[in-house]
Amino acid sequence: MKIVVTGGAGFIGGNFVHYMINKYKDYKIICVDALTYAGNMETLDSVKDNPNFSFYKTDIADRKAVYEMFEKETPDIIVNFAAESHVDRSIENSEIFLKTNVMGTQVLMDACRKYGIKRYHQVSTDEVYGDLPLDRQDLFFTEKTPLHTSSPYSASKASADLLVGAYYRTYNLPVTISRCSNNYGPYHFPEKLIPLMIANALNDKKLPVYGKGKNVRDWLYVEDHCSAIDLIIHKGKVGEVYNVGGHNERTNLEVVKTILHELGKSEELIKYVTDRKGHDMRYAIDPAKIHNELGWLPTITFDKGIKNTIRWYLDNKAWWENIISGEYKNCYEKIYTNR
Ligand code: NAD
Ligand code: DAU
Repeated sequence: MKIVVTGGAGFIGGNFVHYMINKYKDYKIICVDALTYAGNMETLDSVKDNPNFSFYKTDIADRKAVYEMFEKETPDIIVNFAAESHVDRSIENSEIFLKTNVMGTQVLMDACRKYGIKRYHQVSTDEVYGDLPLDRQDLFFTEKTPLHTSSPYSASKASADLLVGAYYRTYNLPVTISRCSNNYGPYHFPEKLIPLMIANALNDKKLPVYGKGKNVRDWLYVEDHCSAIDLIIHKGKVGEVYNVGGHNERTNLEVVKTILHELGKSEELIKYVTDRKGHDMRYAIDPAKIHNELGWLPTITFDKGIKNTIRWYLDNKAWWENIISGEYKNCYEKIYTNR
């Protein structure tokens, strides 16, 4: 089996590459990544010399380069993780979000139609459903929840999902879509809540909490997301959407305080800053469908996952210190100075 993993030098894609190489010794994994600010070859250090692994530094929106890769590799399955993924950046400027997340998806699916594949899998997000109110704990996102986006990022992901559905209906392209809740774990880029808070706490820098910190996210350890996608591409029904989440809801403040507690740091490091524009209040996934149809269940509790994650950031300081001391420094200043 030959599987193309786009965005494999990023957080979830990188974890998925490791997961698949370790699990399927006879599969060929072809990583396609443009190496934007979020892509990091160091994430792929341990697999880069594996004979079952190959890498293309390619933009998924570059039709010519994508077609050449398809001709050379004749892949069976495409798993599309490649995306601009940070909500705050999409609020600053959404152009690249539309190019990569929408046009890139179109190019990949056109290549799938032209060269033929067994499955195109779109890695989507629970953000396409918008948000839920804090005072309705009985509500969850199901696959039937209408798309109702808040940020340019989520609008671009929802647009891509609609396009994937259209390619299924119009061209019979064998597609599946997964919509997952917030992931955390190793190799998470330190602009996102959990790794940012770990890095800042370790450096005794202020921890910027948006608004009052009451927003709720449904956290899933990244390996559990990988196992869900593995099941969907092998056993999921073509044309279907699967929600992925582990009933691990926490307010941002709870998450930040847990991190400070685990690191033995003072809560005085917390700094409440101006809220994110259009900030979604609560995400909560109902994962009944993937559980009932494919037997998927998450295996790592938040308590265990957050400890593993903190341990990983302590053991792999070079990985994230390189990032925060590089080009990302300017972006951090832009988002957080005078906030
Ligand atoms: P990330 O930002 O860490 O990684 C994105 C990767 O895609 C990077 O390696 C980057 O170089 C690459 N990339 C960006 N533009 C590209 C392009 N034009 N061509 C080729 N490669 C390109 O993102 P992530 O957090 O790992 O998210 C991966 C996917 O999962 C995204 O599609 C995201 O929408 C989705 N998702 C993320 C989460 C989460 O909590 N992080 C949850 C649900 C869904
Ligand atoms: O739900 C899935 C989505 O989760 C993915 O589709 C996105 O790609 C991913 O980035 C993530 O989106 P969020 O906006 O939920 O993640 P982020 O880590 O940016 O923020 C998590 C929460 O923490 C959110 O309520 C905003 C808040 N926050 C974030 C940062 C970076 C802060 O309070 N302070 C911060 O500095």
